[in-house]
Amino acid sequence: MTREEMIRHARQVLSDNDRGTYTVPTKGLYPFQWNWDSALSALGFSHFDEPRAWTEIETLMAHQWDDGMVPHIIFHQPDDGYFPGPEVWGTGREVPTTGITQPPVAGFAVRRILDRARDTGLAAEKAKALLPKIHAWHQWFYRARDPQGTGLVAIIHPWESGRDNSVDWDDAFKRVPTEDVQPFTRRDTAHANPEHRPTDEQYKRYIWLVQKFRSLDWDNTRLHDASPFRIVDPGFNAILIRSCQDVADLAARLGMDQIAAESRDMADIGIAAMETLWSDRMGQYLCLDRSIGQLIESPSVGGILAAFAPIPKDRAAALAQRVMTLAKTCEYLIPSHDPGAPDFDSLRYWRGPVWLIVNFMTANGLERAGETVAAERIVTDCLRLIETSGFAEYYDPITAEPCGGAHFTWSAAMVIESLNTCELAA
Ligand code: DGY
Repeated sequence: MTREEMIRHARQVLSDNDRGTYTVPTKGLYPFQWNWDSALSALGFSHFDEPRAWTEIETLMAHQWDDGMVPHIIFHQPDDGYFPGPEVWGTGREVPTTGITQPPVAGFAVRRILDRARDTGLAAEKAKALLPKIHAWHQWFYRARDPQGTGLVAIIHPWESGRDNSVDWDDAFKRVPTEDVQPFTRRDTAHANPEHRPTDEQYKRYIWLVQKFRSLDWDNTRLHDASPFRIVDPGFNAILIRSCQDVADLAARLGMDQIAAESRDMADIGIAAMETLWSDRMGQYLCLDRSIGQLIESPSVGGILAAFAPIPKDRAAALAQRVMTLAKTCEYLIPSHDPGAPDFDSLRYWRGPVWLIVNFMTANGLERAGETVAAERIVTDCLRLIETSGFAEYYDPITAEPCGGAHFTWSAAMVIESLNTCELAA
């Protein structure tokens, strides 16, 4: 496939999944607007339709809660092909949303779109309106998800990380009960191969947490401490830190001095605190199980995605080395779990498969740190996956088998972004 053909296919995916003011990740499996999918999709749109890129992020931020939280799904229209729908979440919003959040990548996306905008007037106007909202979301994280002021935020539901069924939280997740879960019927397994999806046992725990938070009226001043699941994920924190840094830079440029200063502080504190998650033995960052105060010795991509934040140079170099070591264990980087580890599963969602958005963010961070060999290898592998298997949700890192949903928005967006911005890809 030529570069032009690849971009043409990718644009077709985006336009097929475009619902006017927001994009669905893929028809059927995910029929609503997802938070980080949307922000990353905007990067793809920005190469051929800047106003549409801004609309994507504006629609997302229009559903921000009063406390600053930006929900992980916005249920713009009814669709009974997805579970759990609005009736399970019961958040009481006029346009229904879930009550949890997702990796805050919008700050990064806004800066990137503005930096290369052709319509600079429009971009400055849009960014000025969006920054206070994104900043309020970032502040919400440190208030609601780091009540002890450690500098690192916790997720309270696996769906918040995006890495729903990662091996990282197998042990912590066992502490989430399954009794009193209302009977339910999964819908995801009607759209995607059940072997590629989380297990029924995991779904019961996902829903137990939703019911628990709902019983607390989605009051974010109570949810963190009440959740039996509190994980500090290095990848998640890295995205937050990078977005704070990008908001700081943009705000300074746009004369929004208070936002700039507060964002810079949050990023600096976060970077210093990330050191507590570093493992010399594993050569990467690790998750922390906040409920028991222990690092989780699990070699997942969450600790490698940390390269997306402005981490110290020696840490970035070690992560680049870790990536190149993983390259010897699989055909396509970056497996979401180390293929040499016992719980690796090449097909099952976040327990092994490659995800292009994680690849993109990791490569971006490594490139910024001067680790170009690892970064280029990651981008090359993304394009090889697309060539071989099309725009899938995720891929087997050994066989390139396309997994999960097909015709997937963020995979297409990442290809447009990489082909337009990476020297190697061009
Ligand atoms: C799902 O439904 O699989 C999602 O990952 C939840 O956000």
